[in-house]
Amino acid sequence: MNIEHIAVIGAGTMGNGIAQVCAIAGYPVVLVDVADAALERGVATLNKNMQRQVSKGTLTAEQAAAASARIRTTTDYAGLGTAQLVIEAATENLQLKQRILQQVAANVATDCVIATNTSSLSVTQLAASIEHPERFIGVHFFNPVPMMALVEIIRGLQTSDGTYAQALLLTEKLGKRPISAGNRPGFVVNRILVPMINEAIFVRQEGLASAEDIDTGMCLGCNQPIGPLALADLIGLDTLLAIMEAFHEGFNDSKYRPAPLLREMVAAGWLGRKSGRGFFTY
Ligand SMILES: NC(=O)c1ccc[n+]([C@@H]2O[C@H](COP(=O)([O-])OP(=O)(O)OC[C@H]3O[C@@H](n4cnc5c(N)ncnc54)[C@H](O)[C@@H]3O)[C@@H](O)[C@H]2O)c1
Repeated sequence: MNIEHIAVIGAGTMGNGIAQVCAIAGYPVVLVDVADAALERGVATLNKNMQRQVSKGTLTAEQAAAASARIRTTTDYAGLGTAQLVIEAATENLQLKQRILQQVAANVATDCVIATNTSSLSVTQLAASIEHPERFIGVHFFNPVPMMALVEIIRGLQTSDGTYAQALLLTEKLGKRPISAGNRPGFVVNRILVPMINEAIFVRQEGLASAEDIDTGMCLGCNQPIGPLALADLIGLDTLLAIMEAFHEGFNDSKYRPAPLLREMVAAGWLGRKSGRGFFTY
């Protein structure tokens, strides 16, 4: 099957970025959300981001205008009709995603590839919520989507070779670099990254070094572009705690216990950049 028309569910942080890269790659895109206001915000964000690319010279004004014209928005799942590939990027909640996927499946052809951008839910479990689960797959983009080259491709137990091939082809057409990851909590990148940040929080908690020195150490000693504690503040400490808790529960292994200082800071409402205070102040 030749994919010519893509639908993206959810116009938030990830959904509008995914819609943007698909439209720039030449695909007509229908962007679906629950409210017109969310769609307007999503489209305004992606247009602003494309203008930034234009001013940097990485996109021409004509390419940006053409991409913008390829994006249609709707709050009605009946509008999915002709999509051959649907990428679900709605709020991270199992029951919500299961409901969305059933709505998607009811409105597209039975051979339409359905992908999820979930960061932490089981692709196999999500696939089980629809008929023809062999057409279901995880395609995990990274934030911000237009800037980050990586996509993790996650097969559920049910995913067919044909669906996997379509996901690979998509990443190639979008100019992204895919890696294949197994269906375990955190897949590959977050499984390594988030416990590393958690360990940096243990180091801080034990008073072994200041937050500045921990970050300087990891930047200058490991060539990381941003220190783990500044990255924690950027991601949000509440999000990190939720991921560590999911790892702890999912693997049933104490090596994934969240650092007590992380819990304490979340309890205090010190969530990082979004609350103005985390390991650093903003
Ligand atoms: N934010 C990140 O850094 C990041 C990175 C990789 C993957 N993800 C994953 O991407 C997905 C989306 O995350 P996000 O950060 O963009 O969230 P977000 O909160 O920014 O956006 C979610 C959007 O989904 C919409 N939505 C809720 N219910 C819906 C429904 N029934 N139908 C259509 N739209 C609906 C919301 O209105 C909202 O606009 C999640 O699964 C998340 O785990 C996030």
